[in-house]
Amino acid sequence: MSTLSPIIGSDYPFPGKPVELSEQEKIDYKAKIKKLLVEKDAVLVAHYYTDPEIQALAEETGGYVSDSLDMARFGRDHPAKTLIIAGVRFMGETAKILTPFKTVLMPELEATCSLDVGCPVDEFSAFCDQHPDRAVVVYANTSAAVKARADWVVTSSIALEIVEHLDSEGKKIIWGPDRHLGSYIERETKADMIMWQGDCIVHDEFKASALRDMKAIHPDAAILVHPESPESVVKLADAVGSTSQLIKAAQTLPNKKLIVATDTGIFYKMQQACPDKEMMPAPTAGNGATCRSCAHCPWMAMNGLKAIYNALTDASGHEIDVDADVAKGALISLDRMLNFAAEQQLKVKGNA
Ligand code: 13P
Ligand code: SF4
Repeated sequence: MSTLSPIIGSDYPFPGKPVELSEQEKIDYKAKIKKLLVEKDAVLVAHYYTDPEIQALAEETGGYVSDSLDMARFGRDHPAKTLIIAGVRFMGETAKILTPFKTVLMPELEATCSLDVGCPVDEFSAFCDQHPDRAVVVYANTSAAVKARADWVVTSSIALEIVEHLDSEGKKIIWGPDRHLGSYIERETKADMIMWQGDCIVHDEFKASALRDMKAIHPDAAILVHPESPESVVKLADAVGSTSQLIKAAQTLPNKKLIVATDTGIFYKMQQACPDKEMMPAPTAGNGATCRSCAHCPWMAMNGLKAIYNALTDASGHEIDVDADVAKGALISLDRMLNFAAEQQLKVKGNA
């Protein structure tokens, strides 16, 4: 069953592109950042969608590149006093909520997410209030306040398992905010879900008809799709999954060519995982295209070298702060996810 909330938040404050640096400036900034990371006892944690040079810098400096669930775990467990989170705002907030005693910096505090912007807490909360009999499950791409209103937080790498678990307990669900991911999970689990109508401006752009045309030109290619994409695109997929799951699929599928419907930032780690394969971005052009993102998140792109350097030299305007009461509420729903994920990992190990 699907009941829909009103579609809101389709106008976003798009950021400008970061200023291009010369090769020499890049070298200089990288050297300064490396020194500052040591001096400040800081570690750089980057999302797969950030630009390749940011991911490479995280790797070179003992930091980490991963999906949002794993970034949260890495930041929580790493001994550094300061975390510098190269990603979008909700990732910085999650790190702060999990480790309130650490300084959490972001290269750009304005780096948001269309799902977060499209799910204001007051409206979402009123939607939930209309359905008090349902468990509230929200995607990690939300504000701390929305997480505090929820019973569960999920990321795309664990959403299916958590909804399956709730469904097996006979629970009905309110899902927010990504309508495409929500309806994918509803199709897969047959759980009783009602949806908030948010979407990701990157994944919503992939076009099924252009993808079919591309597949006709490359019949030997496998199609990998992140489930934030429209159903018509998901239906064409050989593998559907979160960022980490897509990298795994790229390794395990026998195809030498891959058409990938997610942010092109993922190609850096995907190419590392399977250097002998050819990767092509899925098309965003075609009928109805506006190409507002062209397969690269404009907010992830804000995480440039200069911004990282600025955050490390002067924390003001870069430090994440979450209201203590909101953080307390959000921690409950975040911890439910992390504990569930840890139990799942134990089960997998036990069965191995
Ligand atoms: P992951 O949870 O797979 O890292 O994805 C986050 C995201 O923003 C997807 O668009
Ligand atoms: Fe949000 Fe989409 Fe950007 Fe991910 S890619 S951060 S879901 S706008």
